[in-house]
Amino acid sequence: MGKVVFSLLLALPLVTLGASADKKCVLSGSWRNELGSNMTISAVNAEGGFTGSYFTAVTATNKRILVSPLKGSQNSKSQRKQPTFGFTVSWTFSNSVTVFVGQCFMDDNGEESLKTMWLLRQEVGSPFADWKATRVGTNVFSRIKGQNVDESLRGDGAR
Ligand code: BTN
Repeated sequence: MGKVVFSLLLALPLVTLGASADKKCVLSGSWRNELGSNMTISAVNAEGGFTGSYFTAVTATNKRILVSPLKGSQNSKSQRKQPTFGFTVSWTFSNSVTVFVGQCFMDDNGEESLKTMWLLRQEVGSPFADWKATRVGTNVFSRIKGQNVDESLRGDGAR
């Protein structure tokens, strides 16, 4: 009996490892980045399309931050374990737009993360100001667990 239990205990990490090796990174759900911004992504449709909401923790403006809609697409070969994607956030409280591109990664512990790069385009008054209109950066998002969509969009002020 002792031997059986011992063998089972030895086999357990292998089974767990095997299970996370099969798991796919899924975009749908609630995510938070290192700035404290929160977003939720809907189910990804058959063509790879998705929608969602973004609550940024920071702004380049002096406006009050509001939840903004996002729209994007995942590479349509949805069988991929670590799919690439892109989405656009059209900010409701400013005249700017941000486009994100990235990849959904699954680590050995079954934890997902979204590694992204973004361009934030601000509206400027004339082509002479074009040189200063675009910011660039990176964000890494981690999945928010055990929360519903509304809670994840409340932002830091409500926590
Ligand atoms: C604006 O300031 O006009 C709109 C908000 C921009 C927020 C940017 S988008 C890239 C970066 N990642 C975030 O989560 N927030 C900032």
